[in-house]
Amino acid sequence: MLFYTVALLLLVGAQGNTHELDIQNLIDLSSAEDSADPEDAHLLVPDLIEKYGYTVEVHNIITSDGYNLTLHRIPHGIDQTYSEGRPIAYVQHGLLCSSADWVVPGPEKGLAYILADAGYDVWMGNARGNRYSRKHNTLDPDDDAKEFWDFSWHEIAVIDVPEMIDFVLNKTGQSKLFHIGHSQGTTTFYIMCSERPEYNDKIIAHFSLAPIAYMKHMTSPLLKLISVAEGGIEFLLGLIGMHEFMPTDGFLHNISKPWCDESVLQPVCTNTLFVLCGFNKNQMNNTLLPIILGHTPAGAATKQLLHYAQEIKSGFFRQYDHGLIGNQKKYGSIFPPNYKLKKVVAPVYLFYSRNDWLSAEVDVNRLYTELGNSQAKMLVADPKWNHLDYMWGIDAPHLVYNKVISLMEQLLL
Ligand SMILES: *[C@@H]1O[C@H](CO)[C@@H](O)[C@H](O)[C@H]1NC(C)=O
Ligand SMILES: *[C@@H]1O[C@H](CO)[C@@H](O)[C@H](O)[C@H]1NC(C)=O
Ligand SMILES: *[C@@H]1O[C@H](CO)[C@@H](O)[C@H](O)[C@H]1NC(C)=O
Ligand SMILES: *[C@@H]1O[C@H](CO)[C@@H](O)[C@H](O)[C@H]1NC(C)=O
Repeated sequence: MLFYTVALLLLVGAQGNTHELDIQNLIDLSSAEDSADPEDAHLLVPDLIEKYGYTVEVHNIITSDGYNLTLHRIPHGIDQTYSEGRPIAYVQHGLLCSSADWVVPGPEKGLAYILADAGYDVWMGNARGNRYSRKHNTLDPDDDAKEFWDFSWHEIAVIDVPEMIDFVLNKTGQSKLFHIGHSQGTTTFYIMCSERPEYNDKIIAHFSLAPIAYMKHMTSPLLKLISVAEGGIEFLLGLIGMHEFMPTDGFLHNISKPWCDESVLQPVCTNTLFVLCGFNKNQMNNTLLPIILGHTPAGAATKQLLHYAQEIKSGFFRQYDHGLIGNQKKYGSIFPPNYKLKKVVAPVYLFYSRNDWLSAEVDVNRLYTELGNSQAKMLVADPKWNHLDYMWGIDAPHLVYNKVISLMEQLLL
């Protein structure tokens, strides 16, 4: 067994990583001038939003299969009031993330605040399994782990997101909204619109930050390891969590070792999200790091990771692979069915970059040509921009959010 880990780690290491991994001399948390308030690491999203003077609402929905999901809403900007017909911006987080990621940087920096101040009614979804949606009518996430965590992003896409969207539209009396997704929040958008095409009509436009559909060319060492180990699955599950995704610190540390300096970066080196996606010190506001670490990882099912791992291996964008017999039973075919990107006919704008471990340019280009209604793809004007910078990058408002908002404004004219 030990031999197997070492062999896997060597294999992954040998495949190398050409990205900039300049994370030495990183953090002197005490030297910052504008320090974030350490309390923010522990506040829940509604308390955080309220603390900074914004109106917040919490809504729960029970999905058709019993998950209790939480939506967070900022109905208007600071010093504004809500009026009917205010355009809706629905924001869907990525893997291991939550609504927290859009408010953690604070007013004038976090996407949720910027959207609210720009005139939008902001709704943030929380997918099943994250800390705000780790709840079910009849299943307990710990005592009934096998049943509770038996989902991938397919279920998030065909159940959670459409049911949250219906709730938002019903609550506001509107018929359409803007959808902004990050990472897995883009995957779930494409799947929703292809598997339940009637939802295309409910979307004014969708903005993909770090689009994820095809995964063949991604370079994340952790995901690569999982995809390589998919054959020895039982062994791997012991390391990353059988049902709920919870890799041990020791395992994560081993994977991040090639690029992490353990003396300075211990928390980053063992944080699942950073190990998965990498770390870009140029865009990281050091005083925010402890706050970010307080809010992520926010929880996910192991199956979500395994499903992505299958995509890396197969090169397809398709439903979960249950093996020959399982597929025959579930889909009536040997292979899982592909998602039909042509059916995504809502207008889509893609934002991507060249130092993103998960969203590789080649894969984005393929997605762009296959989607039913691609409007534009925009390369972020920073060669080192990485997957997580869309949420917390110092220049995210300037390089990404303002562009999204100006496109939205044009569409409202
Ligand atoms: C870093 O974060 C702190 C706390 O939110 C904020 O006051 C400061 O302006 C941020 N710095 C940059 C460069 O964004
Ligand atoms: C869903 O969860 C929320 C928050 O914990 C709780 O207040 C609510 O009662 C739950 N809804 C149902 C129907 O169980
Ligand atoms: C919202 O849903 C309720 C209950 O399902 C329904 O009665 C109502 O007409 C809906 N409102 C709108 C604006 O769609
Ligand atoms: C980490 O790697 C060391 C060898 O380099 C190995 O002994 C240990 O079992 C590994 N730990 C995990 C959790 O994979």
